[in-house]
Amino acid sequence: MTTVRVNPTDNVVSFDTDALVVGVHTGEGGPRPAPGAEGLDEALGGKLAATLDAIGVKGKTGEIAKVPTFGALAAPLLVVVGLGDAPEGDYDAEALRRAAGVAVRSLSGTARVALALPAADARQAGALALGGLLGAYSFTKYRTNGEQPSPAGELTVLSDADDAQAAVERAVTLAESVSLVRDLVNTPPSDLWPARFAEIAEQTGSAVGLSVEVLDEKALKENGYGGIVAVGQGSVNPPRLVRLAYSHPEAAKTVAFVGKGITFDSGGLSLKPSASMDWMKSDMGGAGAVFGALVAIAKLGLKINAVGYLCLAENMPSGTAQRPSDVFTSFAGKTVEVLDTDAEGRLVLIDGIARAAQDSPDVIVDIATLTGAQIVALGWRTAGVMANDDALREEVVATAGEQGEGAWGMPLPEELRKGLDSPVADIANLHPERFGGMLTAAIFLREFVPEGIRWAHIDMAGPAFNKGEAHGYTPKGGTGAITRTLVGLAERYAG
Ligand code: BES
Ligand code: MN
Ligand code: ZN
Repeated sequence: MTTVRVNPTDNVVSFDTDALVVGVHTGEGGPRPAPGAEGLDEALGGKLAATLDAIGVKGKTGEIAKVPTFGALAAPLLVVVGLGDAPEGDYDAEALRRAAGVAVRSLSGTARVALALPAADARQAGALALGGLLGAYSFTKYRTNGEQPSPAGELTVLSDADDAQAAVERAVTLAESVSLVRDLVNTPPSDLWPARFAEIAEQTGSAVGLSVEVLDEKALKENGYGGIVAVGQGSVNPPRLVRLAYSHPEAAKTVAFVGKGITFDSGGLSLKPSASMDWMKSDMGGAGAVFGALVAIAKLGLKINAVGYLCLAENMPSGTAQRPSDVFTSFAGKTVEVLDTDAEGRLVLIDGIARAAQDSPDVIVDIATLTGAQIVALGWRTAGVMANDDALREEVVATAGEQGEGAWGMPLPEELRKGLDSPVADIANLHPERFGGMLTAAIFLREFVPEGIRWAHIDMAGPAFNKGEAHGYTPKGGTGAITRTLVGLAERYAG
């Protein structure tokens, strides 16, 4: 991965790098250099703004221009990134992350990149480091031609802020976890099946000091994990439940995260149409986020106890697959009629949630690429947040906002519960109405949360995988979405 360091700002002009990145704001008489670019303007004979104006730079958010320096700076290339209108007060951290991300992404193949963007305090310096590192991500494992983009090898954040170094270190930890999740999501399902994911979690988890337990298909059956078994039974690659635990001697609180980890979702016998299936390798993004978050929490040494459950199964059609109208007994003891085998995420999650409740956590948060209805309601970049507790829902939404991740609170309308009644079992996994599908899925999950436990559910079907073009620090493909939100929640509960 790209390395990152901090350097003072006094030697911007003579700083030895391959590309120097500066910011510009929009302005009335043309673009205005942002903080970080001051020293440069002088070295360029005070002509920076006029030159940018002459080549048509406006300073709009995300705009990129590359300018040769003809020896006026040590860096041969000046990269200008638009920051939009200058903020009235403080810089928004997410604006800085995105600017750094766009700039670094435009420089794939450049060995050394220095960011001379606004970095007056540690928060800003950390944001630049995180955005830059996430923008440098690339997934080239499966390419054999020589033209693969190579990410910047070394990133420097130019900042004089006191604790810039600590903020940059936190950014490195977060970026490592998000990159880990992106790699897992991008890995083809032929190379990432439940047992393999469990093995990776075991190796990486124990290397950072997590205690890791893996239940295989036999243990899952013996211990009554009816949902995970039912979903996994159609595949030659049997299911797993992974428990990752982190504890701190001074912890006052325990958080539990439960992730949907369908390594491939074909729909099962309720088979998906081809166009909906080709990106279903991303259906383990929730488990990925839980795994990445636990790794980061351990590396950061947060004063909290955290447990993470990865509910891993491959949803396939076969002679052993569960059938629409089958009934299983879940880990919580309730029976479930499976009317649609493509509504499988909720079946593995209820076992994970009921198991997590046994840890007596202060809060359970589950994370899942659960419904296409989430994308219909909120689009690609905004996750839906639902909860059995209004304050907790708002807390999750606020935390996502702080971390720069899109999330929005959604209701659990009581009238939708009745549609989940089953004529034969305690509950059915499908609501006869398509409308409000994100909400009915959450209402189904809520039925398996024991009385008195605060629970929130994050549906990130859209945000987990970017089918469109790269933007900001987000690449095509796996995004690592919600990983940072979970770390932020753990930080909040650590006090
Ligand atoms: N994994 C899908 C949801 C999904 C859709 C994730 C698109 C990412 C992008 C989930 O298992 C699913 O198939 N949900 C069904 C539920 C329905 C059968 C009630 C859906 O949303 O169509
Ligand atoms: Mn499905
Ligand atoms: Zn699914």
